[in-house]
Amino acid sequence: MATFRPTFCPLFRPLLCALVLGAGLTAAAIPGAAHAHGDVTPQAVDTSTLPQLGKEWKQENPYRTGPAHDEALRIGSSAYNQNCARCHGLDAISGGIAPDLRSLDSDCSALADPKKKQGCYSEIDQYFATTVRRGRTRDGRVYMPPFDETLTQEAVWALKTYLESRRPQ
Ligand code: HEC
Repeated sequence: MATFRPTFCPLFRPLLCALVLGAGLTAAAIPGAAHAHGDVTPQAVDTSTLPQLGKEWKQENPYRTGPAHDEALRIGSSAYNQNCARCHGLDAISGGIAPDLRSLDSDCSALADPKKKQGCYSEIDQYFATTVRRGRTRDGRVYMPPFDETLTQEAVWALKTYLESRRPQ
């Protein structure tokens, strides 16, 4: 948590910053929790055991189904803890600092028409990949750092696969 403050805090809205600091202190008070929140600098993720996808970005999560799913889930789970949990919450349960990512595609799951459902998932996947790659900056404030330099396409879809496993029932 220590390097988190000087790096991001001045860029956050003061309220958000206070929340982040508060969360950091709370986490530090619980043995193990601070560590589980992961490092502050974006962490590279080893995705060499996944089917390689090439340079062109896929329109949707290629690991959602099929033989690579389980390995993507394993990698995505650890990648999430290293890179996202400190803001989006442990086990993807948001503490309110950042959006809860478990229900990102819940509107899609509710669609009855299979074609529409497919299109909806694809749209959310693209939204997800773009957001993770670019991060979120508004009015010069960094709400979320960009991960384009750190995470491969394989890592981004592994993260999505993990979040799909955390969808609310
Ligand atoms: C420094 C804190 C921080 C980190 C680290 C972070 N995020 Fe975020 N993220 C945010 C905040 C804050 C928002 C909301 C931004 C806004 O209001 O525009 C956000 C928004 C998002 C959104 C859009 C959600 C929506 O409902 O529209 C996605 C998707 C997302 N983050 C995924 C990730 C993933 C995956 C990771 C890890 C690779 C990650 N984030 C790491 C803070 C963070």
